[in-house]
Amino acid sequence: MHNKNTQILSSEEHDLDQAATLLLAGQLVAFPTETVYGLGADARQGQAVAAVYEAKGRPSFNPLIAHLPSIDAAQRYVQWSAQAQTLADAFWPGPLTLVLPLRQDHGISPLVTAGLDTLAVRIPAHPTAHKLLALVDGPVAAPSANPSGRISPTTAAHVSAGLNGRIAAIVDDGACGVGLESTIVGLATPQPILLRPGGLAAEEIEAVLGHPLMQRDAHDALTAPGQLLSHYAPNEQVRLNAMQAKAGELMLGFGAMACDLNLSEAGDLAEAAANLFGHLHQLDALNKPIAVAPVPTHGLGVAINDRLHRAAAPRD
Ligand code: TXA
Ligand code: MG
Repeated sequence: MHNKNTQILSSEEHDLDQAATLLLAGQLVAFPTETVYGLGADARQGQAVAAVYEAKGRPSFNPLIAHLPSIDAAQRYVQWSAQAQTLADAFWPGPLTLVLPLRQDHGISPLVTAGLDTLAVRIPAHPTAHKLLALVDGPVAAPSANPSGRISPTTAAHVSAGLNGRIAAIVDDGACGVGLESTIVGLATPQPILLRPGGLAAEEIEAVLGHPLMQRDAHDALTAPGQLLSHYAPNEQVRLNAMQAKAGELMLGFGAMACDLNLSEAGDLAEAAANLFGHLHQLDALNKPIAVAPVPTHGLGVAINDRLHRAAAPRD
């Protein structure tokens, strides 16, 4: 089941045709989005979706996000609502995923939803992702294109380092602009709920809704299965809220300070988000423990701190 050669494709039209053909044939293709690189599979083909879990070494069948080129396409699979329309108008295409009740005769493999009666849908803003999804003209399930539990990929080189030889192709179109996975909002409950902080700040969503989002109870596995605590894990230990490195540690900084790599010297959270996974990949390659400076806990800082806490969490 392992491909000996993973093809590297460009964002040129003939290469995207090839990528779409591979996806429709049930093969796995990694592709760029504005958040992180996704590992795509045709969401209607159970074998293709199963191959995603196998390639990532994902331990259990956590639900995946269905990626689509347009609101019209999303409406074929989920029960649309006024709230969905409001958020889609404000933030799609973009780094927002909506969880909505599945429609009857949706045709989505139950491996995508992990047997739930809801589906997570997202319309990426990345032009290459959009072109590819339009060519496929169907739902593409895509988790982040990294081995399970490791740092998410924001370049094709990151994807290749983790999955080379295990997937059919990688569409290489440079670095991802946002750098954090999408923010996930559940709309299948009476009140909109923040299921995962991400590349769209919750404050922006709340401003459009006109009221606060419900917060997910960290212990409620049912509302967002698969949010394992240890995740994004570098090889060595990660120490948070460090003012400076101890002997033998590498320092990941934020704001003007002495460090090995800085998320944002200017203290800009969007810049820090875009740099987060790439900097962790670079420091990880040096195989030393990593100390991380404090990052503010508002706006995109919520998602940055969420990923950092998972990177630092005890592993088993
Ligand atoms: O930015 C992103 O969202 C990236 C790019 C590739 O689009 N994708 C991504 O996928 O981060 P993944 O598989 O790493 O995270 C998907 C998360 C799961 O952990 C799960 O908790 C949640 O989405 N999810 C998916 N379907 C769900 C559902 N029906 N109900 C609740 N949560 C769901
Ligand atoms: Mg992931």
